[in-house]
Amino acid sequence: MKHIPCIEDLREQARRNVPKMFFEYAEAGSYNQETLRANRADFEKLKLRQRILVNVDKRSTATTILGEPVSVPLALGPIGLGGMMHGDGEILACRAAQAMGIPYTLSTMSINSIEDVAAAVDKPFWFQLYVMRDRGFIKELIHRAAAAKCSALMLTVDLQVIGQRHNDIRNGLTVPPELKIRNIIDIMMRPAWALSILKGKRKTFGNLAGHVKDTSNINSLAKWTASQFDPTLNWKDVEWIKSIWPGKLILKGILDVDDARIAVSTGADAISVSNHGGRQLDGAPSAIASLPRIADAVGSEVEVMMDSGVRTGADMMRALALGARSCIIGRSYVYGLGAGGQAGVARAIEILKNELDITMALCGVNKVSEIDRNVLADTETQQRP
Ligand SMILES: Cc1cc2nc3c(=O)[nH]c(=O)nc-3n(C[C@H](O)[C@H](O)[C@H](O)COP(=O)(O)O)c2cc1C
Repeated sequence: MKHIPCIEDLREQARRNVPKMFFEYAEAGSYNQETLRANRADFEKLKLRQRILVNVDKRSTATTILGEPVSVPLALGPIGLGGMMHGDGEILACRAAQAMGIPYTLSTMSINSIEDVAAAVDKPFWFQLYVMRDRGFIKELIHRAAAAKCSALMLTVDLQVIGQRHNDIRNGLTVPPELKIRNIIDIMMRPAWALSILKGKRKTFGNLAGHVKDTSNINSLAKWTASQFDPTLNWKDVEWIKSIWPGKLILKGILDVDDARIAVSTGADAISVSNHGGRQLDGAPSAIASLPRIADAVGSEVEVMMDSGVRTGADMMRALALGARSCIIGRSYVYGLGAGGQAGVARAIEILKNELDITMALCGVNKVSEIDRNVLADTETQQRP
């Protein structure tokens, strides 16, 4: 993996390894993909301030997230169907994150279950919760995460209904899945991927199978899931979840200052400024454009994280400059998983860490805690925000 220099090359490798229907599922944004594109475009618009002749010999990317030491202000976000990028994908991603000294978040919609991952690693990981209509199941799921010693619960608050991704329909990644001849041919042309999936512990949603009634096969399970995302979810439910979850609570999917203020009043430990990687409300602003106002409003009361669009260490620098304490990545490590399993995820983390380190040096910064808006350039086209 050492020969892969950047996330974009991991992406190209993943495109070659993973069947089209799963690669495009990971790539896509919802509807017209305006928000997906804005996530990248707005990062690239933010120019950094080059500083020279500062002694940067003793610099470090190390910091803390939710009080825990990390080697770089980065966490791996929850990825539904992560185990379709590579067999046992969630276990491998968690191992890579822990070896690199950063948190990993397991999705409710993962292939490996909470218990599978807990048995395969020796440090705590985070669990992401989608709230379903069946609150008995949700209560049990929260208890399972607590029993597995998950150190934080990440409640996703931007998916009461699901934004449509056109390619999933074109590719037959629907409920129930459509077995198209071209998908079968595509899979046959990717024997290494197929073998890794065959060797994987599970072939269905590991957190749901065996815990939900009358869902004996993947089709009935997928149907149950699709009917279970709960449009009634509201702030009162956050209180309920907080009352039964013993650990740290992160609310992921906040894009609005008013919502951020309410989030703080729930007593959440952290929020992630996020538009779900451009997969939910198309037409919403980018996460990086939404970040500064939210960080200004609540940054002293709650730990602010951000995700959606992070592909480089320079992006991390921009997010930290605008008030995030850490970044969460989705696709950047999903590409690593597709490109090379655990080694690919480790490489993705290493690439971002090295890029942040060099970016810090060239901006004349030694510590993560020194990064603020002064690292952004004041140019004719960009007033330092
Ligand atoms: C393939 C894929 C699956 C995802 N599944 C989940 C999920 O199960 N739960 C969740 O809260 N977010 C999910 N997300 C959103 C990510 O956690 C994260 O917010 C997003 O990927 C960040 O944007 P980025 O991919 O540009 O880094 C998913 C994203 C992708 C790309």
